[in-house]
Amino acid sequence: MINQSQRNLVTAAMVSLRELSDNLGISSAVRSVDWIDDALVIIDQRKLPDEVTYLRLETVDEVVAAIKTLAVRGAPSIGVAGAFGVALACKEFPNDRPGFVQAVESIRGARPTAVNLARSVDLVAKRVDDGLDAMLDEARIIRDDEIAACWSMGINGAELLVELLGNRPQRLLTICNTGGLAAVERGTALGVIQTMFERGLLEEALATETRPLLQGSRLTAWELERMGAPFRLLVDAAGPFVLAQGEAEAVLTGADRIAANGDTANKVGSFALALGARFAGAPFIVVAPESSIDEATPSGAMIEIEDRGPAEVVSARGLQLAPEATRALNPAFDVTPAELITAIVTDRRVVRLDRGEKLSDVPLGERRISAEQ
Ligand code: MRU
Repeated sequence: MINQSQRNLVTAAMVSLRELSDNLGISSAVRSVDWIDDALVIIDQRKLPDEVTYLRLETVDEVVAAIKTLAVRGAPSIGVAGAFGVALACKEFPNDRPGFVQAVESIRGARPTAVNLARSVDLVAKRVDDGLDAMLDEARIIRDDEIAACWSMGINGAELLVELLGNRPQRLLTICNTGGLAAVERGTALGVIQTMFERGLLEEALATETRPLLQGSRLTAWELERMGAPFRLLVDAAGPFVLAQGEAEAVLTGADRIAANGDTANKVGSFALALGARFAGAPFIVVAPESSIDEATPSGAMIEIEDRGPAEVVSARGLQLAPEATRALNPAFDVTPAELITAIVTDRRVVRLDRGEKLSDVPLGERRISAEQ
């Protein structure tokens, strides 16, 4: 039986190996969430870009806190974290079914908007009678599925952009962080931008800083820099104008939940970009795995939007930005109506909403797994 400090050493060694292989160019992947040596290991996204710190999470309370505080964030990544969290719940409450059920509920409810969390938690929780190993297998399937989905979305998205804008370097605007940090490896919208870059088709990525928590400036800029891709950062309010000026030619966003009618919840600010894109005649493309589509939610009006309270608005990284007693609104997401979305790109299909296609019309195709994988 190995003790805690030996466990920490093993985790540190595995993480160092991954970093070494990254630095040697063997793999450019950032795996933000993984199961290593009996624990959920995540990159602590709160600390980026200042430091790359890995956290070992061994209890349900630690997993819930990590999800709520955005140490782990992005719809697919919190889905995978939640999946392994349920396995931890099984370890923590081996002979206590009510305790297990309550633990599962606390993980499931840690963030309400991204459907991936509830979906993954439910998939793993229903294996409880098959035992811990079966639950871990289920969680690993979810993790591997999200990674494969990212490669496929990259190809589908890049092909769509070439079809829409031509086979030439493009200037692509994105919001929040939708890279490997948000989707275990590689990413959704940022995964498409990475594929475009690898194919010599990225003139420039434009990233909005994404107040209040600055996922764009802290995380997307960090990932684009590691990729070596050309990019510039802009304040959120500049996005629609930059589109109107023709400086950005298309918008690529991720999704936390896509309703059955195509309405899409994503990071707050996405709706303003969709309006700007429509004004400019630029494509607005949502890139998300099939696991982010929620057929049980008929339209965006039924999507619960997380309000994260005033503190994040009136202060930032320890700096007071408004008078102490200022009241604030802080919706973490907004909903872009389907009518403003050009296309939804998933790992298994491209749905052209601009041509009147609906999610229900377009059958699932095969995954486009890349040879690079
Ligand atoms: O609050 P966050 O940082 O978890 O919000 C993330 C987003 O809005 C992403 O665009 C979405 O989860 C898709 S991530 C691939």
